[in-house]
Amino acid sequence: MKRWRRLYYDIFSSFYDRIIALHSRDRSLSLRKYLLDKSGIAEGQRLLDLCTGTGAVAIAAGRMLNGRGMVVGADFSTGMLKRAKNKALQNSIKVDFVLCDTAHLPFVSGQFHVVTCSHAMYELDPATRSGTLSEARRVLVPGGRFLMMEHMEPRTPFIRFLYRLRLASMGSAENKDFARDERPFLAHFFQDVKLELVPGGKSKIVSGRKPHDANDSRLTHS
Ligand SMILES: C[S@@+](CC[C@H](N)C(=O)[O-])C[C@H]1O[C@@H](n2cnc3c(N)ncnc32)[C@H](O)[C@@H]1O
Repeated sequence: MKRWRRLYYDIFSSFYDRIIALHSRDRSLSLRKYLLDKSGIAEGQRLLDLCTGTGAVAIAAGRMLNGRGMVVGADFSTGMLKRAKNKALQNSIKVDFVLCDTAHLPFVSGQFHVVTCSHAMYELDPATRSGTLSEARRVLVPGGRFLMMEHMEPRTPFIRFLYRLRLASMGSAENKDFARDERPFLAHFFQDVKLELVPGGKSKIVSGRKPHDANDSRLTHS
């Protein structure tokens, strides 16, 4: 199943950036910068961007840290990562891109200060999503922050129909519940879970913090 999803994203990677540009012009970039501002990432720290795609968040983070700290973008699509690497190189921005399934991260525990995931959590099937959240928590330092950004449900009926179709095509009915309110799901993994609207009201950021006294053996995904 994941093989087909990966193939889908490999094909999609050829026109992903053009679609985003058409759809949102520079709004998509400012949204991703807003996510980073909210993350509180500071020079000298390490940030992991899950499902990084063509690297929009990771590259913006690399630009922000300007070589003082570490940014890693993780994705399972070679097509997406190839484009992300090219963009980072062209802009002389230092980001490490890692090919992996986010439900099984190849990183030791407790090393990232911030983990982000933009416009991807809804596209994971429920088991992969739980695995990814569990792994995000594992690789965070105690007190580290997890932030995900997604679209709010569109108000225009036709766009809302397309949005719901996309959710349904990506997984079970659980996707619908997750999209309606992510907080109960995130609360299994993080504390201080909150949801805030991004200015403009079309997107939201849901975030949480890894407890300082986390016992991660409980939540390690197998
Ligand atoms: C809609 S794109 C979002 C890209 C990017 N985060 C952004 O904001 O533009 C979703 C990304 O999730 C990646 N993805 C989906 N399932 C994954 C998994 N199990 N492990 C790693 N990456 C995954 C896809 O390859 C794709 O690049």
